[in-house]
Amino acid sequence: MVKHFETRRGVFRAVNGVDVECAPGTITALLGPSGSGKTTLLRLIAGLEEPTCGRVFFDNEDITSLGVQERDLGFVFQGYALFKHMTVAENITFGPRMRKMGIDLDAKVEELLKLTGLTGLGGRYPPQLSGGQKQRVAVARALACNPRLMLLDEPFGALDPLVRKSLRRGLREIVQQVGVTTIIVTHDQEEAWDLADHVVIFNKGVIEQRGTPEEVAREPASPFVMNFVGDVNHLPSHCQLVRKMGFHTDKPYVMCRPSDLSVYTNFEEAPHAAPATVHDKANVGRVVRYYLRFDDGVDVDFAVSRRVDEERYDMDVGQRVFVEAPPSRLMGFDYPELDGTAVVA
Ligand SMILES: Nc1ncnc2c1ncn2[C@@H]1O[C@H](COP(=O)(O)OP(=O)(O)OP(=O)(O)O)[C@@H](O)[C@H]1O
Ligand SMILES: [Mg+2]
Repeated sequence: MVKHFETRRGVFRAVNGVDVECAPGTITALLGPSGSGKTTLLRLIAGLEEPTCGRVFFDNEDITSLGVQERDLGFVFQGYALFKHMTVAENITFGPRMRKMGIDLDAKVEELLKLTGLTGLGGRYPPQLSGGQKQRVAVARALACNPRLMLLDEPFGALDPLVRKSLRRGLREIVQQVGVTTIIVTHDQEEAWDLADHVVIFNKGVIEQRGTPEEVAREPASPFVMNFVGDVNHLPSHCQLVRKMGFHTDKPYVMCRPSDLSVYTNFEEAPHAAPATVHDKANVGRVVRYYLRFDDGVDVDFAVSRRVDEERYDMDVGQRVFVEAPPSRLMGFDYPELDGTAVVA
């Protein structure tokens, strides 16, 4: 799929050759920096945007020339509002009524209200609902026409983390029960990891990596993905830690995840480790975060759960420590490789 926009500054390559395949009944999460082309891809799939080139298939049927209405989709788009002058029930049945689907509308409403945990709220108007309830109505409305594919663009964007979490779990159950193939765009990585069978990492209109959440977390395919997915330390590649670990790269910097560091408090335990000093310590919720400073002045973050900290570390500021980072978990990089801003050709 390719989508180039003509702009005054030239051709803008919003989507620049991506190939996404979604297995029936699965959830695919699209992740990527702002402006990387996620919404554009959903709009192309939905038929709201005409591709520069590329095609959309449902099973083996080429649907590229079909209009939006003919594609059998349900969608909840970024900031997509409910009809305020219609009740929840009327919002949900809007699609089936427009399409004269000839189904038992009352039964459909009851089924979808139950599925989305909104039983009893069918007669309310959107202003009488909480944000989370409105989002669930939007999902129910998207499901009302029995879509072949559901497209969700940051459906829980503006909600507080607890509500998001419960909606997320609800969504997963709904998708499993209905068996509808789903593509969701989210900025929230925890959300993607929690929900998705597959994740697709976008950058500048192309796919950097795709795979199961575990694969992407375990084996990031590029410095961009490693930096984008989860915490990382950035180190100069000639620093003590990198050299002591015997890691070689021709790149000027090296990344490592705080969770991949091994920290010892006795030199005897790790005679080949790089010595450092606990420079600072912060309690952030259930995690204790240490800032370690190597003797060459380079700093790293090291984070452990509070329980592990109490059992194993409980280090003091100023204390000497010995740090190892397995070379297999280090990755050389240069800063331009991490840049997620799109290019104008
Ligand atoms: N009609 C248009 N004309 C010109 N440029 C466009 C048009 N629509 C989108 N773009 C550009 O294409 C790029 C991709 O936009 P898109 O909305 O797909 O990004 P996104 O990944 O969804 O970002 P966000 O996470 O901020 O929602 C952006 O830089 C945007 O400015
Ligand atoms: Mg978007």
